[in-house]
Amino acid sequence: MSMTKAKEMKGIILAGGNATRLYPCTAQISKQMLPVYKVPMIFYPLNILIKAGIKDILIIVSPPHSGRFVNLLEPMFRDVGIRILSGVQEIPSGIPEAFTIGEGFIGDDNVTLILGDNIFEDTDTIATAIKNFDKGGHVFAKEVKDPERFGVATVDKNNIVTNIVEKPENPESNLAVTGAYIYDNTVVAASKTIVPSGRGELEIVDLHNFYLQKGELNLSKLEGAYLDAGTPDAYLDACNLARDHKLYDNFDSIIQSAVEQGRDRFKMQAKNMLYKK
Ligand code: TTP
Repeated sequence: MSMTKAKEMKGIILAGGNATRLYPCTAQISKQMLPVYKVPMIFYPLNILIKAGIKDILIIVSPPHSGRFVNLLEPMFRDVGIRILSGVQEIPSGIPEAFTIGEGFIGDDNVTLILGDNIFEDTDTIATAIKNFDKGGHVFAKEVKDPERFGVATVDKNNIVTNIVEKPENPESNLAVTGAYIYDNTVVAASKTIVPSGRGELEIVDLHNFYLQKGELNLSKLEGAYLDAGTPDAYLDACNLARDHKLYDNFDSIIQSAVEQGRDRFKMQAKNMLYKK
């Protein structure tokens, strides 16, 4: 009898891109490093992965910011057994590239991908789906008033996705697909078969279709607020949401204590740097 190792869940945060809509704020600083109330933006997707018990997390960034995320986060989480690694995406050529950049990191395991500028209030639904994941794909949707701006999903009575259309003129539902995705290991091979769309990007909807055609794309509906902090207004909304809905207070205790201990080290370093006669 051959023993096959149970698949673990790896986590990837895609935090590259150019963030042109937030220029000049993002000319020297990565969008995902901008503060969203108490912590940098990246902590919001990171919180979900940590809440789900994921121990290996790859942060994919654009070349000018390589090193920065890992310099901040790796020492914060090293002592609690969470490994933070950094990968680089040379040009933002599409979300599915995360799985080819991350191929070696993913290995034989399953993977959850969250976009680095997505802020979710309903972190529990995503974390629970990650913990219970078995096979196929799993996406998360939010009922919105303006579905034509999003990828729109249609589901059957078992919440299996039957259709996803990117920015449809006449949406079949009001379920907008958000930037958190769970896939089994076949995503690595599948992402290599995708070709760029008319706008020259690899499209995440093509990966969804790969699973959808097999009847293996599940969907969970999210409660609470959801936004991507990509425009000045959405960024401000994210900051207000984080404060008004106390998102940080609901973070996993691992993150909260890592922040507190990091703050103590930071204060100590500042003290040691004081010039003494
Ligand atoms: P976008 O908001 O679509 O792109 P952007 O962040 O570069 O912003 P702008 O349109 O203002 O220039 O990306 C959503 C998230 O996904 C964001 O966190 C960046 C990330 N992303 C990548 O890291 N690489 C990619 O190839 C794409 C398409 C997105």
